[in-house]
Amino acid sequence: MADSSGDEWTLRENRRAFNYFPILTHRLACIGAKDIDLGIDPLGHKLPYPIIAAPMGAHGFVRPEAEIGTASGAAAAGTIYESSGASANPLEAIAKAGSGPKWLQLYFNADIGVTRSLLQRARDAGYSAIIITTDALGPGASDEFIRLGRPFPPNFTFDNHDPR
Ligand SMILES: Cc1cc2nc3c(=O)[nH]c(=O)nc-3n(C[C@H](O)[C@H](O)[C@H](O)COP(=O)(O)O)c2cc1C
Repeated sequence: MADSSGDEWTLRENRRAFNYFPILTHRLACIGAKDIDLGIDPLGHKLPYPIIAAPMGAHGFVRPEAEIGTASGAAAAGTIYESSGASANPLEAIAKAGSGPKWLQLYFNADIGVTRSLLQRARDAGYSAIIITTDALGPGASDEFIRLGRPFPPNFTFDNHDPR
């Protein structure tokens, strides 16, 4: 991972925590690939392994196809794509990008009409669950993003939302 939010405290903590789990090999123990099942079934979706794509917005910063590319990659990998409320593509286009299961992350808008409209669009587009982000009171910016001078591409839009 190249970057994370804030001063990357959670990223460092995640890496530190993973280091508590060394892989202890057990050879010649009569275990074959068929004996190993990493599958999980969050909210009834059967997945081959316990990894899903966390909601991340603004993929248009780095690739022109933005979240459509990420969502089709997640579907090809057989896992859930959690579509960000701050996506550069509309949630409907992201939903069509792959046949895999999709959840939508919602920033609960103070204007209940906006929130209701997003929820209706999500249901119509086939999203099967909503993830509510409760810790974002305003736009965030990582220390690294600020250090780089907040390099916003010109004409960048968050296409889930009415530009007005
Ligand atoms: C580039 C980037 C974009 C993100 N965008 C969103 C977002 O749009 N909505 C959201 O709920 N979380 C977003 N997150 C948070 C992630 O889903 C995840 O919870 C978080 O990265 C884990 O904590 P950490 O970044 O502090 O390590 C984003 C994170 C990153 C790094």
